[in-house]
Amino acid sequence: MRFENQAVIVTGAGSGMGRLSAQQFAAEGARVMLTDVNLDAVVAAAEEIRGNGGEAIALQMDVRCYDQVQQAVSATQESFGSVDVLVNCAGGASKRVLGRTEDWHELDIEVIDWGLDVNLKGAVYCCHAALGPMVQQKRGVIVNLSSVAGIAGDGGSVDYGAAKGGIIGLTKSLALYGASRGVRVCCVAPGPVLTRPEMANMKTPLGRAAEPQEVVDFILYLSSERGSFFTGSTHLIDGGYCCGGWL
Ligand SMILES: NC(=O)c1ccc[n+]([C@@H]2O[C@H](COP(=O)([O-])OP(=O)(O)OC[C@H]3O[C@@H](n4cnc5c(N)ncnc54)[C@H](O)[C@@H]3O)[C@@H](O)[C@H]2O)c1
Repeated sequence: MRFENQAVIVTGAGSGMGRLSAQQFAAEGARVMLTDVNLDAVVAAAEEIRGNGGEAIALQMDVRCYDQVQQAVSATQESFGSVDVLVNCAGGASKRVLGRTEDWHELDIEVIDWGLDVNLKGAVYCCHAALGPMVQQKRGVIVNLSSVAGIAGDGGSVDYGAAKGGIIGLTKSLALYGASRGVRVCCVAPGPVLTRPEMANMKTPLGRAAEPQEVVDFILYLSSERGSFFTGSTHLIDGGYCCGGWL
């Protein structure tokens, strides 16, 4: 029970690694605020956690709306008494999520905005809002989700690659800011993860994609006391994808 009496906010908790992170934190004693733009998904996920004896609240929150982000942080403080961990999982490649097939230079600028706003600005908003209580408590951990796209680039989804690269910079800068204030900030950069079956098609030197559990285990490690000397760092979990020289 590494997270007993700790309050954890997870964004994008309605699906994939966000949902699994919320479940795992709750299983280890955390009180979890599950947030997502998709209310039905996050309500179902929180119900499942409560059904298993965990503590969880669901809240609709679009990471692009700072008012909603602030409300989620306030609701966490009011309901659970603190904000100890923030995991920024909300995200996705704009072309895929919005169902667009054009070449990148022909996309409407609204699609590019979506990619940058959800994948980078949303994480900045959530970090900014959560930092208030964390600095006051002199304690907190933030884990951001980048991607190999932020390190190796993504020619198919340029705004996604740019935003995920920005997440690495956000992590470093916020780690420097938070170090003297008791706040650690880390980043996980996965390669293909089987939150969708088609991720199995993306090749890696290990010949497979990751199970979501393999990434979530590490998110919890970084968030726990065992990860107390990690800050500012970005951790590839990519089966060797970024090694180069294997394609
Ligand atoms: N799955 C992969 O292969 C992979 C690889 C590298 C990085 N990542 C990153 O890891 C994170 C989680 O990936 P996943 O595959 O588990 O995601 P997913 O697609 O299963 O879930 C993403 C969640 O984010 C939510 N979301 C979308 N827009 C939102 C918004 N504006 N506000 C709040 N919530 C919003 C969605 O409703 C969804 O529930 C993402 O940031 C993704 O970019 C995923």
